[in-house]
Amino acid sequence: MSFHIGAQKDQIADTVFISGDPLRAKFMAFKYLENVQCYSEVRGMYGYTGQYQGKRVSIQGTGMGLPSTSIYVNELIRDYGVKTLFRIGSCGSFQPDVKLRDLVLAMSASTDSNMNKMTFEGMDYAPSANFDLLVGAYQKAKELKLPIKVGPILSTDLFYQENPDSWKLWARYGVLAVEMESNCIYTLAAKYGVKSLTFLTVSDSLVTKESLSNQDRESSFDDMMTLALSMVP
Ligand code: HPA
Repeated sequence: MSFHIGAQKDQIADTVFISGDPLRAKFMAFKYLENVQCYSEVRGMYGYTGQYQGKRVSIQGTGMGLPSTSIYVNELIRDYGVKTLFRIGSCGSFQPDVKLRDLVLAMSASTDSNMNKMTFEGMDYAPSANFDLLVGAYQKAKELKLPIKVGPILSTDLFYQENPDSWKLWARYGVLAVEMESNCIYTLAAKYGVKSLTFLTVSDSLVTKESLSNQDRESSFDDMMTLALSMVP
């Protein structure tokens, strides 16, 4: 057992999908995996292990934001020996050509958080995706004819910003979309020498102010999971 995950070491697979929402982790485990077992309910942050096409896969809830996510990712890698981490989640678009229902693969993840400034003693680190996973997922998405975009994203600490136009600076520098976790996942994967990739569906747009209906959210999530599951080693 680690501090925040109540599993024995062999109960978690080498490949873990991480989801901000623990109830979505539960939903996905029972929807996409077979022989599902719950390995942790600590703090209601559920974790499940099952099989996808004969391959062992886990799905872990992490909560929202960098601090909560970093606790689970640290423990998954350090205490459970996880080798590959896939974040699956949603994002808000910063660009007119990144539309609702598009899938975004995060090539890199900038941040307004102070966490990496603390880790790197005031200097800036540029967290990036594992190249092999990124290229593989991009090729697979093209093969499946999914609406895929690849580029830099922002992991923000503030869902509710004081200045409603602050996203425009990131947009001007080519950042595709905003979410709240990938920066720390990529950083920790690099620290421990493991692989990670973030898959996002565009659930809202800061450009057009639209957002997906619940039904559209579900079907675009399905496309994203099909893509991400195809990348399980
Ligand atoms: N901001 C931050 N995180 C998000 C958003 C957003 O607009 N949409 C989905 N995740």
